[in-house]
Amino acid sequence: MQVKRLTCNIGAELKGVQIKDAIDSDDLFNEIYRQMLAHKVIFFRDQDLTPEQHAAFARRFGDLEDHPFSAEGPRVEGLVNIYKDENSKPNYLENNWHADVTWREIPQKMAVLRCVKCPEVGGDTMWANMAKAYEDLPEHIKQQIDGLYTRHSIEASFGASLPIEQRHALKAQYPDAEHPVVITHPETGEKVLYVSAYSTHFTNFHTRENVRYGNDFTPGHHWLLMDLVRRATIPEYQVRWTWEPNSVAIWDNRCTQHYAVADYPPTVRQMQRAGVIGTKPVR
Ligand code: SIN
Repeated sequence: MQVKRLTCNIGAELKGVQIKDAIDSDDLFNEIYRQMLAHKVIFFRDQDLTPEQHAAFARRFGDLEDHPFSAEGPRVEGLVNIYKDENSKPNYLENNWHADVTWREIPQKMAVLRCVKCPEVGGDTMWANMAKAYEDLPEHIKQQIDGLYTRHSIEASFGASLPIEQRHALKAQYPDAEHPVVITHPETGEKVLYVSAYSTHFTNFHTRENVRYGNDFTPGHHWLLMDLVRRATIPEYQVRWTWEPNSVAIWDNRCTQHYAVADYPPTVRQMQRAGVIGTKPVR
């Protein structure tokens, strides 16, 4: 296996590997996992992989789960279809910086994404290293956010453009989750900045001392939160991957965020994603 780093801070391409061989090989599986922890997102070209093998490979990392907004299409248990064509709405939501399903109390620890069809040009995906984003924060901001929590909401993201009744039904089914602003990666021990497009507000920012008038209480639009959410957009933290059919990306959702660039409509783009259930994020 050859490992080619793609940037100084995140991402590597692994060559000379067929990931389906890791379904039955502990050595290969362990090496792939080690590379993912080291580089946070790893990429493979020309994977000869059926959807069933894709799901079987991803299940080696843990249990898989569905997504309430997965596109229609041929169903393989454990795989979510991400399908766009000329009829798709422009507000895709994959084109926003996020880690997958942090609106759940127990978000996904990682994902295995395969490109089925892609535009000739466009439709890239970007990832950002959120451990580096935390490490680079000024010391006074680190102190300020230590111990803070934010709400993460499917209602305010995927639900935002739905009629009010559907939005409320969505929230009833998937209540907001609350996560620390800074989490500790359960395997590497790195501190990670854990706010994203799904974060609506700090839940414990205010104290008796800093709420004196109603004007002091601005839960939804705090500039500090906006500043933290925008950290993923800093190019030094990012890697950008151009897809080809049968390219695969495996990423660690506990220390990265990603953004699927929606510059290709009305061309067809079809991806299949296996999302691996993780553990509750902790400080
Ligand atoms: C996602 O947000 O997981 C989808 C990424 C992509 O479609 O490139």
